[in-house]
Amino acid sequence: MPPFSSSATILAIETSCDETAVAIVQGRQVLSSIVTSQIDIHRRYGGVVPEVASREHVQAVGGAIAQALTAANLSWNSIDAIAATCAPGLVGALMVGLSAAKTLAVVHHKPFLGIHHLEGHIYASYLSEPTLAPPFLCLLVSGGHTSFVHVRGPGDYAILGKTRDDAAGEAFDKVARLLDLGYPGGPVIDRLAQQGNPQTFPLPEGKISLPEGGFHPYDASFSGLKTAVLRLTEKLRTQGELPVADIAASFQATVVRALVKRAIACAQDYKLTTIVVGGGVAANSTLREQLQLAAKAHDLNVIFPPMKYCTDNAAMIACAAVDQFENGARSPLTLGAQSKLSLTDIASLYQ
Ligand code: KG4
Ligand code: ZN
Repeated sequence: MPPFSSSATILAIETSCDETAVAIVQGRQVLSSIVTSQIDIHRRYGGVVPEVASREHVQAVGGAIAQALTAANLSWNSIDAIAATCAPGLVGALMVGLSAAKTLAVVHHKPFLGIHHLEGHIYASYLSEPTLAPPFLCLLVSGGHTSFVHVRGPGDYAILGKTRDDAAGEAFDKVARLLDLGYPGGPVIDRLAQQGNPQTFPLPEGKISLPEGGFHPYDASFSGLKTAVLRLTEKLRTQGELPVADIAASFQATVVRALVKRAIACAQDYKLTTIVVGGGVAANSTLREQLQLAAKAHDLNVIFPPMKYCTDNAAMIACAAVDQFENGARSPLTLGAQSKLSLTDIASLYQ
């Protein structure tokens, strides 16, 4: 495939969860990226409160759009299209960015594109590796999703495996809550685990049995692991002070082992030489270290997005929108927000 050469300039809005983000990307170059996090507000409740998130997005989105244009030093004349995340996510939250993007598209006479949030996470790595091209395996690990995706071409995805219950990020958040570490759990467990011994507590990795015997090679399960940490914590609490760092390290090592094993199996079985990681859990230091090591041992390349583009941002949404725009995709102004939509159904977003 020839190297990517688009220079389309797209302004994108991302409001699927608790970050109000606006970015302008030209081709695969970020001209501006504004991220306003609501984490401090949701922390008080121990997780994201959807109604509060929607109201905060309404407050923040106008200012973030203006800041993105100012930071890129651009006027509306230079923008080729306007995009917004439309699925999956919190519907009320998605509606805020989607309505803003549609309104701007009408007012400024620009094409409008709805973007799938997970396609954005796949594209985050293109921002630092502009020559990256399919086919490759994408390990998608966010707060709501954990999937092993065969990226066959732009917009052409096959799901090879996924979690059957909790997402990897969700498991980090739930374990952090039961250890009283606050929200979001990933960064704090990652930090604490550095001081702990990952071999202290053997924990179940979680496997999906097949009816014919044996285990599914790519599907994962993290809810049993979370319950095992709960039981362990209850037992240890009766014995004195909790060895929080050792629990965090043992839990994190178990999640990472499950992800690395499956990612390597998918890449090898499908003869894919590159593994791209996307989503908030891509920021995890042990995952970064262990996947690099395993990939090297199996002669595979591994690409992680820059840290600032692992968690939710609009630069990755704009980057995905550039490819869709170049391929002729346009969304109708009647496009709605959807809480769930498979990556394999994104053609339904376009006319
Ligand atoms: O992609 P993202 O920002 O939002 C979703 O699309 O869900 O991912 C957020 C998730 C949260 O569950 C958070 O705990 C997790 O990513 N996360 C991490 C780390 N940083 C964020 N998990 C493990 N280690 C980290 N360093
Ligand atoms: Zn996300």
